[in-house]
Amino acid sequence: MKTNDPYLMIPGPVTVLPRVLKAMSRPLIPHRGKEFEEILKECVEGLKPLFGTREDILILSGTGTLGMEASISNFVSEEDVVLNIVNGKFGERFYEITKRYATPRLLEFEWGKSIDIERVEEEIEGVDAITIVHNETSTGVLNPVKEIAKIAHKHGALVIMDGITSVGGEYVEMDKWGIDVAVVGSQKCLGCPPGLCAVAVSERAWDKA
Ligand SMILES: Cc1ncc(COP(=O)(O)O)c(C=O)c1O
Repeated sequence: MKTNDPYLMIPGPVTVLPRVLKAMSRPLIPHRGKEFEEILKECVEGLKPLFGTREDILILSGTGTLGMEASISNFVSEEDVVLNIVNGKFGERFYEITKRYATPRLLEFEWGKSIDIERVEEEIEGVDAITIVHNETSTGVLNPVKEIAKIAHKHGALVIMDGITSVGGEYVEMDKWGIDVAVVGSQKCLGCPPGLCAVAVSERAWDKA
């Protein structure tokens, strides 16, 4: 069947399911009312298994990049050293954001290649937090966050993860892996329109905040 609908061949926004479009066309309800409170609760609870967490989840108005910025700006301060592990465009974005809020330490790998865990171990000394992109969409590399988080925790560093294109699509176990802050974007594996992101926050991260 011929259609004039755009055929999206990008990593997100993805084509939104008809039932989601239908839900969006329903009459408005008060955004400070009881009914909305119930919907918000349901969304937060529904997200928890996708992150693999029992921790708090905050849904924010803004795209994934806003979530990345929130996950840095709220959990580190100027004097903190943040190890930015970069092997693609979005890892680089975390580095750019870090420059505005903390003291970055860049650890770059060839784009399209995975991360050398031994190099992370060499660079972790004196680091307060690390940033890592789980699924580096720019090249399609799925990074070994579980192994990296293990090293970070051994040295008391907070683990901040961009799960924007992994949460809901890939196996993510935030609590088991020891991820402290993780972000997802609405227009990726969640199959919704862009404009929302969710940030999951561990107790350790709250303490630091
Ligand atoms: C891994 C990753 N991080 C961050 C972003 C930025 O998200 P947004 O465009 O929603 O700000 C994207 C977008 O493609 C992404 O794939």
